[in-house]
Amino acid sequence: MKIELNNNKVYLDNDGVKKEIHPFWLRERVNGDKFVDIKTKQRLFDPTQIQENIKINVINLSNDFLEVTFNDGASTKLSIQELKEEFSNNNFIKLIKKVEWDSSLNDFNIFEFKENLSEKEEMYNALISFYKYGFVIFKNVPTKDNFLINFANSIGSVRRTNFGEFFNVRSKPNPNDLAYTSLPLAPHTDNPYRNPVPCIQMLHCIENDVKGGLSTLVDGFTVTEKLKKDFPKYYKILSEVKVRFQFVDQSVVLEDWAEMIRVDENDEFKQVRFSPRLDFVPLLDLDRLELYYNARKKISELYNSDKYRIQFRLSPGDLLMMDNYRLLHGRTAYDANEGDRFLQGCYIDYDSTDGKLKHLKRKFDL
Ligand SMILES: [Fe+2]
Repeated sequence: MKIELNNNKVYLDNDGVKKEIHPFWLRERVNGDKFVDIKTKQRLFDPTQIQENIKINVINLSNDFLEVTFNDGASTKLSIQELKEEFSNNNFIKLIKKVEWDSSLNDFNIFEFKENLSEKEEMYNALISFYKYGFVIFKNVPTKDNFLINFANSIGSVRRTNFGEFFNVRSKPNPNDLAYTSLPLAPHTDNPYRNPVPCIQMLHCIENDVKGGLSTLVDGFTVTEKLKKDFPKYYKILSEVKVRFQFVDQSVVLEDWAEMIRVDENDEFKQVRFSPRLDFVPLLDLDRLELYYNARKKISELYNSDKYRIQFRLSPGDLLMMDNYRLLHGRTAYDANEGDRFLQGCYIDYDSTDGKLKHLKRKFDL
């Protein structure tokens, strides 16, 4: 990638493909304390108010800087390094490659809690693991006074829902969700009926005296890739048909229409939703519905298969942080007469983990 000048015009040469950079694009990026607030890095001018026919009057290119004076009198010194970073559009988080995993996974991404963890390099490593595997476990996180909320807010901001800022997972009388019973929970994603769906769930074990109640995780990314390869028709219909997910209780009706598998414009994995207690397919033509039901059955078989599931016991102090767009979670049944099983949960969104990871990268120059 190279920057070149010709007749007061700036060109970007990217592996032999040369194109002119619009002078306005450069004009918008003028820096210096007259144009940009040093602390916030926010513009002190409104680019929509700049005259339209911006041209370059004087230009000079050295190894490290591009110095430009424009025909409206503004002049600036732009870092070549920063320009190249912006040209390449490098979002390093998007470049973190997801690791497909199944029941053979034996490294459970365990990190130890410590004071001020969210500002340490260990948190950077934990978040990288999170983006690779879709989950991470923190050990010995304090369990008193709903510390989960402090922990979540040290990474980003808690996403409050109608269940509150956090929710207590223990069996209780008259539950409004099967989570609050001692029944087994098959692999599912949380809250598919919300718009937007909460991105990340944190589950913090406060007490666990029962033999059962093991936590289970399945990588929806691995299963989706398997479906795509072996059952392309099923993959196609599940990524095309929008179904209605709903949650109803006495105070709210939540509904959202979405595909069970969401892909981006390049057919790359984006999100899975799966909660067969809460999904309602629209009345499609007979043959489409036939295909849809077969596809849902197959993906359910895969999600519930031993081949893809890991299961483990959470001990008091363990905090499981999982990607609710990628992973499915569940638990085995337990006997509430054996003692207490008490978990606290909350949600945060990707802006929290993205923002923290980028901050720590900048802070430690990683
Ligand atoms: Fe859940």
